[in-house]
Amino acid sequence: MFSFFISMEANWSLLLQIFFCLALLLGQAKPDPDPLQDYCIADNQSPLFTNGVPCIDPNNAKPSHFTTSVLSKPTSASTSQFGFNGTVINTVDLPGLNTLGMTMSRIDIAPKGSVPPHSHPRASEVTICLKGQLQVGFVDTSNRLYQQALRPGDSFVFPKGLLHFLYNPDSRVPVLLVSGFSSQKPGTQFASRAAFTSIPDIPDEVLKNAFKITNQDVIRIRRSLGG
Ligand SMILES: *[C@@H]1O[C@H](CO)[C@@H](O)[C@H](O)[C@H]1NC(C)=O
Repeated sequence: MFSFFISMEANWSLLLQIFFCLALLLGQAKPDPDPLQDYCIADNQSPLFTNGVPCIDPNNAKPSHFTTSVLSKPTSASTSQFGFNGTVINTVDLPGLNTLGMTMSRIDIAPKGSVPPHSHPRASEVTICLKGQLQVGFVDTSNRLYQQALRPGDSFVFPKGLLHFLYNPDSRVPVLLVSGFSSQKPGTQFASRAAFTSIPDIPDEVLKNAFKITNQDVIRIRRSLGG
């Protein structure tokens, strides 16, 4: 009986430890802060800098503040640098989005085009392929690649902050996809651009060592990325 209570106690302290670890971990992965009101229609003219955009007087809210057609417009992908183009909904297009902790985007990818490896520091992303064939993948922090081929109707999720890509392997049919994000402003950082076309440049010595390439390679890659 006595030993039963001892082991119960040990179990409880283990459970408590697990609980506190989980609480700590979850606390680190917070989405955008919760709004303290029903909505906060973005006042895009406000000169204030805040975390998000200040709100207009809620009495002036209108149904049109909660709707947008920006994702209905196709974008021209074939002439762009990497063969993709797209639109992310922001608080100017959709003022009612402000503080709700989410947004959406539409991406068009030309045949053989791609959205090169990039990350969103503030959001996880769930994507749905609407047209064409879509190859997607992300690399986790142990450097393992998770890759999938998507057909229209298929979805894939990219965990927050991890490097990922989207690629159209077809040589004739363009891809159309829509993505949802767990932040109103996910932020996007392309690996190749961040490394080779930052302003000012990352020192050549650092890039030569990071990619095991020569001075000439650094110059050539910078030039071909338009840096
Ligand atoms: C993206 O598409 C829009 C609309 O067609 C176009 O105006 C813009 O120039 C395109 N951007 C690039 C980088 O090609």
